[in-house]
Amino acid sequence: MVYRKINVVGDYVSLSKAAAEFIVEAIQKKIGCVLGLPTGKTPMGMYRHLTELIKADNIDISTVTTFNLDEYIGLGPEDEGSFHAFMEKHLFSQSNFLKSNIHLLNGLAPDLKAECARYEEEIREAGGIDLQVVGIGVNGHIGFNEPGSDFNSGARVVKLTEATRRINSKEFKESAQVPLTAVTMGLRNIMDARQILLIAGGNEKSLALAKALQGPVTEEVPASILQTHDNLIVMLDKSAATLLKIR
Ligand code: F6R
Repeated sequence: MVYRKINVVGDYVSLSKAAAEFIVEAIQKKIGCVLGLPTGKTPMGMYRHLTELIKADNIDISTVTTFNLDEYIGLGPEDEGSFHAFMEKHLFSQSNFLKSNIHLLNGLAPDLKAECARYEEEIREAGGIDLQVVGIGVNGHIGFNEPGSDFNSGARVVKLTEATRRINSKEFKESAQVPLTAVTMGLRNIMDARQILLIAGGNEKSLALAKALQGPVTEEVPASILQTHDNLIVMLDKSAATLLKIR
């Protein structure tokens, strides 16, 4: 039953706090915890609270490993619009994660197929992902797995939809600068995580969430595959939950 796994937590600030606390619990539950992490507007508050909690409660993150979901092709850590730069700004520069434990797909890799294989191998070597945090796109994407993505997909190069490029253009000076392609963990990689936390806030996500969580499981709505994960936690603010049937 999907209903009982949906936590509606008021506003964006409560959502961010609840998600940050959930991550801290996961870190404290397991030495050597492996986290899968998203970028975007949604997790900004979560990262802010997470760094505050880590500092305030002196949380030991020396054994925590992180893997990011995705990266634009052609952008490196020095590019402001890259997810690497986002993570540096919102999390890594604010906390003392060990550099050697931080993993991101390299959007500048000369051989992107080899880069994706390397990434999957690193996830395997780390023992798999314990907690994968995901946001959701208005078109139901998770990571950069756009509608039509194979449920069995691994890490790979993808073409971004125009809608996604338009939405993500806020992070760039000009919309033409938004890359056309990206590298992303696949839906299978996400589903392989032992636990998944889906976070979403705002009205604009409500339709995608209703389809993903209470509609048919279909590759047209990539996030709908999450319904079949046996350890999925959903945290939403009130406006994101408006179209969901919740008892
Ligand atoms: C980003 C990612 C994307 C975002 C999604 C929602 O790493 O994987 O799937 O989670 O596009 O983005 P925001 O939070 O900006 O609405």
